[in-house]
Formats: sequence, C-alpha cells, structure tokens
Amino acid sequence: MDKLLVTGPGRLNGTVTVSSAKNATLPILAGALLFETPVKLVDVPKLNDVATIIKLLESMGVKVERDGKSMTLDSSNVHNLVADYALVKTMRASVLVLGPLLARFGKAKVSLPGGCAIGARPVDIHLTNLEKMGAKIQIEQGYILAECERLQGCELSLSFPSVGATENLMMAAVYADGETIIENAAREPEIVDLANFLIHFGVTVEGAGTSRIRIVGTNTQKKYAATKAYRPIGDRIEAATFIIAGLMANSNIVVNGFEPWTLEAVLETLEKMGAKLTRLEDGVEVHPSGRLKGAVIETAPFPGFPTDVQAQMMALMCLCEGNSIITEQIFENRYMHVPELTRMGCKVTLKGNAALIEGVESLSAAPVMCTDLRASAALVLAALTAHGQSDIQRIYHLDRGYEDLEAKFKGLGAKVERVK
Ligand code: UD1
Repeated sequence: MDKLLVTGPGRLNGTVTVSSAKNATLPILAGALLFETPVKLVDVPKLNDVATIIKLLESMGVKVERDGKSMTLDSSNVHNLVADYALVKTMRASVLVLGPLLARFGKAKVSLPGGCAIGARPVDIHLTNLEKMGAKIQIEQGYILAECERLQGCELSLSFPSVGATENLMMAAVYADGETIIENAAREPEIVDLANFLIHFGVTVEGAGTSRIRIVGTNTQKKYAATKAYRPIGDRIEAATFIIAGLMANSNIVVNGFEPWTLEAVLETLEKMGAKLTRLEDGVEVHPSGRLKGAVIETAPFPGFPTDVQAQMMALMCLCEGNSIITEQIFENRYMHVPELTRMGCKVTLKGNAALIEGVESLSAAPVMCTDLRASAALVLAALTAHGQSDIQRIYHLDRGYEDLEAKFKGLGAKVERVK
C-alpha cells in the first residue's frame, strides 16, 4: 500500500493548476448512459473514483476509449442494467446511474450504497422522487429494483437539497413525459455543470444553480448529439485545499483552473480570518498573510461553506491565533481526521456535531492514517507545516479524488514523497 512522506515546515511558491472536478465528472460520466450518440469529454481527471465509474459503465456495455485525458463513451449497446454491489460499495456515486438507466431503458437494478465512513448517507430522496415520477421501486436483497413504462414529468420538491438526488432526478427527467420541476434543488456548481453538459447535448434545462430546476422531457426516439467535446469544470475543493496550504505556509502561490465564484464562502471566511487573496479570472492568488485569526463556521449546502472543505479548514484553524468553532451540518460523522490531527499536536474537542479548535503555535510530525478523502487532505496540510517527517498511510483515499497531489505539491516546492 502506498504512503506519503511529508517533511515540514517549508515555504511554497509558484502556480498550481487544479484538475477537473471529481464531483462534476462522475455525474457527467453517468449521464453518458442517456445518449445513443458518442459522448466526448476532455480533461477527465485520472482518479480512482473515475476508474470505478468507468468500470461500472463498461460492465453495462458502454464502450470507453481513453486517449490521455480525453475520453469517448459509446452507450449505443447497453445490455446490462445492473450496478453490482462490488462496484457500488467502493463508490457511492455509482447510484447516479439509476436516473439515466430508468429514463432511457425503463428498468434498473442498482445496489444500495450503504453507509460510509462519514455517515449513513441514505438514498430516500432519490427514490421517493423517482416514485413520484411514476417509477415502481422495490428493495430486494440489498438492491434497488426500479421499473417504469415511461417516467412522467411532474413537480418535485426535495425534503433536503441533496446533490446526488438532484443529479439523478435531472437525468431521469430527460426522457420523461412532459416537464419536470425540481424545487429545493441543490445549487452546487457541479449541478450547473451537469445541466451545461445536458444542454450541450441539446436537452432543455433551466434554472440550474437556483433552487428551481426545469427540465423538458422528450421520448427516447429523440437523437440528442453533440459535435464538440465537453470539459467538466475545475475542482473547487482541490483549489481550496491548495489555497489553505499556501496560507498555512505563509506563502505566495497562484491556484488556477477553477472559477472563484464556486468557492466564495471559503474565500470570504479566509479573508475574515486575515487571509490576503486576489481573485483572478480563473483562480486565486494567495499572498503571505502571517498567522490567521480563528473563526466560527458551519457547513451548509451551496452557497454555504462546503462540507468537503471542513477537514482542510480545521487543519488551518489548528494553527490560528485564538479559538475556532466548526459545526458540521451535512454529515454526522465527518470528524474522523480529529484523532489523527491530535497526534500532530492539534487541540480539538468534539461535542456532538461541533468541534472546538484551540490554536497552537506549531505542529509536530507523526505517523498518521487516512480515513476518508478530505480527512486525508487535512493530514497532508498539517504535515506540510509540522516539524519533521510525517508518515501518512492509507493514501488510497487521496487517490480517489486528488489527481497527482504529490506532484502538484512538489511543483510548489513542498517536500512530499510517495513510497510504494
Ligand atoms: C455529494 C458529493 C460529496 C459532498 C456532498 C455534500 C459527489 C460525488 N459527492 O455527495 O463530495 O460531500 O455532495 O456537498 O458529488 N441525504 C439523505 N437522503 C438522500 C440523499 C442525501 O438523507 O436521499 C443526506 C445525506 O445523508 C447527507 C446529506 O443529505 O447527510 C447531503 O447528501 P448529498 O447532498 O446527497 O451528498 P452526495 O450527493 O452523496
């Protein structure tokens, strides 16, 4: 199993370009199931989660050709409508094939994803709303069995703005009879990107990025097609990780390849803490800002503070002047990084879904273990500023969602080595 050896502390400098967003790429790849004509994508990140969804699509009969970071997916011969437990259990986003399969083929059998390290993560919002669209859904032996003659367009109102449910329903609505309105839809930039991908293929989608999305359905005879390749948006979570790294190292770096508006809640919080940032057209310049002040934040659906940056923010807060408080509102168990950060000298007290962080002057290197994707990023950030060499184990979690992380950090001058 690979591990990372990270030696700190050190200054960073230079420019880093983030990859396309994992959370935009996965629903778009699932969306390829909707179209009989080839789907061409560019700048597809080389991530383990992307490899997993490709394996799943291939198991269904999708032909996938990869040429470097470009990809063509041909879904004209889909013959298997089953998403097997073996693949779904390794990546929950596999459940995103449910909407497209049901829309185009009227049938799907998708393993229930089950819980994961950060929480129970049910899919009830996906299923109840597909039922409202006319799908007959049963749960049998751990699988979702879904069937319909043809989905019906209707007005849906989500009980919570779930990102995955909004994506599944948007894709399900493509071949529904009539219009579908999704109220209380998730507003994340990745939703806007999925809408743009569907629009790129000729589907009528309006309102993505607001709480009310409208999709006009047509029947499956409609030949949607796109001549040009689609490029998923830049990864705002990866960008936040590098911006925080630059601030923790009191350095001047440029993080580009993403749109700053997608990260406004994080940028505003950092600025309140004393960070000096310049918003660029396609990124952010981080200026040396000294020791930042603590802050009080709570995670929330977009445009609120993203739960996917909570762990990295905690690593930064551990080194701030004064105390900070984080309230995690999205996932009930998303503090797996706390015991590991504590081993490096962080002072964090947990109470329910709140974390009190007492700022310390410095951290010390330690052997630590990754528990989930963003928790792992927090450990790398802490290790970059800690005194000595940290040994970060189980980095397969990082490989799920960060492309070339160690190469990118090395490019900024950090001392990071991957050991096989
Ligand atoms: C997506 C992101 C993930 C991010 C999360 C929240 C992808 C591939 N993953 O996950 O990185 O952390 O959004 O921004 O894009 N819930 C229910 N019932 C449902 C669906 C969700 O109770 O049917 C709950 C979940 O348990 C969780 C909350 O709603 O507590 C948010 O989940 P959701 O927005 O659906 O996140 P994902 O789409 O799974």
